[in-house]
Amino acid sequence: MNVLFVASELAPFAKTGGLADVIAALPAYLHRAGHQVLVVVPLYDTVDVSKAHFEAVFDTDLRLGDHQYQIKFFRVGSGPPIFFVHCPALFGRGRIYTSDSDEHRRFLALQFAAIILCQRMGFAPDIVHAHDWQTALLPMMIKTLFARDPLFAKTRSLLTIHNLNYQGSFPSAIGPDTNLGSVAHLFHNELLSAGRVNFLLQGVLYADGITTVSPTYANEIQTEAHGAGLDGFLRARRTTVVGILNGVDYGEWSPECDRLIPHRYSAADLTGKELNKQALLESLGLPYQPRVPVFGIVSRLVSQKGFNLIAPVMPELLRRHGFQLVVLGSGEPGLEDMFSRLQRAFPRQVCFYRGFKNDLAHLIEAGADAFLMPSVYEPCGLNQLYSLRYGTVPIVHRTGGLADTVRPWNPSSGTGNGFLFEHHDEAGLRWAVLAALAAYRDPAQWQTLIQNGMAQDFSWEVQGKLYEWVYQRLGEGN
Ligand code: ADP
Ligand code: GLC
Repeated sequence: MNVLFVASELAPFAKTGGLADVIAALPAYLHRAGHQVLVVVPLYDTVDVSKAHFEAVFDTDLRLGDHQYQIKFFRVGSGPPIFFVHCPALFGRGRIYTSDSDEHRRFLALQFAAIILCQRMGFAPDIVHAHDWQTALLPMMIKTLFARDPLFAKTRSLLTIHNLNYQGSFPSAIGPDTNLGSVAHLFHNELLSAGRVNFLLQGVLYADGITTVSPTYANEIQTEAHGAGLDGFLRARRTTVVGILNGVDYGEWSPECDRLIPHRYSAADLTGKELNKQALLESLGLPYQPRVPVFGIVSRLVSQKGFNLIAPVMPELLRRHGFQLVVLGSGEPGLEDMFSRLQRAFPRQVCFYRGFKNDLAHLIEAGADAFLMPSVYEPCGLNQLYSLRYGTVPIVHRTGGLADTVRPWNPSSGTGNGFLFEHHDEAGLRWAVLAALAAYRDPAQWQTLIQNGMAQDFSWEVQGKLYEWVYQRLGEGN
C-alpha cells in the first residue's frame, strides 16, 4: 500500500516524547514489510542537521488565509523517505511546540505541505495516517478541498490518538487560516457558535479510521472520566475506534546492542547491568552501594505523569528504606521544584537531572533496578516497555497502556513482570514501592521478575501487523 505519515515529531531529530519514537519506528517497519511509505515532518530549527544528509528537493509557496509562506522540502532517509518541511517563519522558534498566536498555522502548514508533496511526487496514498491534533485536519481536507484530485480518489484516512488531552483548540477567528472556509459547515457547529474550533475533534468526526495506542486507553477515552470532553464523539464512532499497543524498536532500545550505554548485557548474563548501575550513579555523583536498589524516572514533568504523589510519599520511604532515586525530566516548574527539593533533602540518595538527554535516558533504563511511572493516565507509555527489556522492573499505576503491559508480580506462582497500584493515591504508590522493595530483598524473586520482563516481545514486527490489518480493512471500505 501507499501510506503517507504526517506528524509533528520524529526521533532522533525532533522529540519531546513517545510520539517521536513511534514515527521513527512504525514507518520503518511498514517499509520493511514492502509498503511505500512517505513521512512528512517539520524541519524545526532545533533539528540537528548534522545527523543525516539533508537533500533539498523542491520549493513551493503556501497561502493560509491572508498569510503567505515559502516552503522548501528536504529529503532524508535510507529506509522510508522522510520529507522535512523547511519554513523558518513557522518552525524557527527554538522549540517544537509553542503557545504563540500562530501555533495553528504552524501545523496547518505541515498538513498542506504534505498534500502538496504528494501532488508534486505523484504519490497517490491509499492511507493518510495522521497523528494527534497537529495533523487531525487532514481527513477533512482530503474529503473536501482535495476530493476532486484523482490522486486522492481512493485515499482513506486514519487518525491515531496518542494523547486525547492535547486537542488543538483555537478561537474560531482562526477559521480563514484553515483555507476550509468553503466547507465551514463541517466544523462542529455548536462549538463554532461558542467561538472555538477543535482540530482533534474534526479528526474524530471525519477520519475513516481511528486508532489509539493501547486497548485499555481505547476504552478509557470513551468514558467521561478520560474522554476530555470528546468521549461522546468517540462513543458515536465506537465501531471505528481500535486500540493498538505501540511497539518497541529493539534496534534502539535493547541492552544487547545499545550504543549509548557503557556495558552491554543480556538476560543470560546480567553482569553488565550492575556495571551500568555503577556508571549511572557515578555520573550523577551518587555513592554506589551493592544491594541498595535504585529507582529511575525518565519523563516529561507534566500533571499526566502523576508525580503529585511523590512529595507526600517518597521522603518517608527514602528515609526508612535507604534506596536511591534518579530522575531525568523537565517540564512544569512546580514539578521541577519538587524534585529539586527532594534532591536537596536527600543528597546521597536522590539526583534530579533537569533537561532532555537521550543518552542518560538509556543509561537510566540500563542502570536502575526499578522504574517508576505513577501516571494519572497513560495512553501507551514506552518507558515501561523499555524497562521490561532492560530488566528494570516497572512500578506503575494501572491505567491505559500500563495496564496492558505490566502484569502484577505474584511471588507464589513466580508470574508477573512488575508492580501495579489500582487507585491513584498515596496509599497506592506507597504499597507498590514497598512491594517492590520486599521482592528486591529476595534475589531469587527479583531474578524471576527480571527474566519475566526481559522475555517479553513488544516489537513492531508484532504490533505493526495490526496496523497493516487496519489499513487493509479501511482499503476494503472503498
Ligand atoms: P510520553 O510520550 O507521554 O512522554 P512515553 O513513555 O510514551 O511518554 O515516551 C517518552 C519518551 O520520551 C521515551 O522515549 C523517553 O525515554 C523519552 N523522554 C522523556 N523525557 C525525557 C528526557 N528528559 N530526556 C530524554 N528522554 C526523555
Ligand atoms: C503520548 C502518550 C504516551 C504514548 C506516546 C506514543 O505521548 O502520552 O503514553 O506512549 O504518545 O504513542
